[in-house]
Amino acid sequence: APISPFIAALPKAELHMHLEGSLEPETIMRLAGRNNVRIPYASAEALRAAYSFTDLQSFLDLFYLGLTVLQTGEDFYEMTRAYLDRAAQDRVRHAEVFISPQGHLRRGIAMGTVIDNILRAFDDAKCAHGMTGGLIVGIQRQFDEEDALSMLDGLRPWRDRIIGLGTGGPEMGNRPAKFRRAYAKARHDLGWRTTIHAGEEGGADFVCEALDALQVDRIDHGVRCEADPDLMRRMAETGIPLTVCPCSNIMLRVFPDMQAHNIRRLHEAGLCITVNSDDPSYFGGYVNENYAAIQQALNFSDAELWQLARNSFTSAFMAGADRDRHL
Ligand code: ADE
Ligand code: ZN
Repeated sequence: APISPFIAALPKAELHMHLEGSLEPETIMRLAGRNNVRIPYASAEALRAAYSFTDLQSFLDLFYLGLTVLQTGEDFYEMTRAYLDRAAQDRVRHAEVFISPQGHLRRGIAMGTVIDNILRAFDDAKCAHGMTGGLIVGIQRQFDEEDALSMLDGLRPWRDRIIGLGTGGPEMGNRPAKFRRAYAKARHDLGWRTTIHAGEEGGADFVCEALDALQVDRIDHGVRCEADPDLMRRMAETGIPLTVCPCSNIMLRVFPDMQAHNIRRLHEAGLCITVNSDDPSYFGGYVNENYAAIQQALNFSDAELWQLARNSFTSAFMAGADRDRHL
């Protein structure tokens, strides 16, 4: 979808994006060669051709394959820097991004290799583009809570440079309350903000449980909250932000097509809605493509898109003065 000049120039924050989901097929093949990692596709084109998903799990299988090419600190730096440089072109002025440390620790990579190099890329992007970055660590919800708790212990040395706790991985079979202690530890012990993927494949009851059991500050996706009118009223009243990812939702068949997406109805019901790319290399676009897709399919006006971009700054975890400078 062509990007309108208004969208291209609109300052925005991106709040829901997985760094490993920004690895382009060409980068995956290049790093595979450099690091001697076997990727069972003959070329970047062949890998890209496999990006046709039937549901969340079919995407996760490729996502977990792709991230195995990340081996060295330089790999984590390059991945982060490439995303931030690309986001700066989309006039992203602040990015809060997810990393899944468990997917790397399990392969024998040290926590410092992952975290220090991502933070170094944030520092350099701030110099290069004036854009700010925040790192959210994601629990992989297919693993048990003990695994999540030990990851949090390993992150203690970086507690002041990490802004939040989130999740990734399969929602079905892994309800929010599974991670009650991990979320309490993040909030009370580490002093972080919290968010969780809920209501992407799971129902509105997953969103309720995330609010009640985990007391999260944001909900990632959350689009299935529409099935519960009481929950919709609660979300409008409390103003809890939803990080919606329109292109992701179509690629993973949460909705059959963009005309059928409920983002306009959620916005008109008074919920605090933001627009994000989720896994831009897998889902056909960076953040501006997501704004353009809803503009074209659902007739969002420039004034409405401006409101969504404003929501992205007010919903950010960044501290008061840094945030207010964007408003
Ligand atoms: N990991 C990366 N993107 C994800 C998504 N949209 N849902 C769950 N896990 C993910
Ligand atoms: Zn996501």
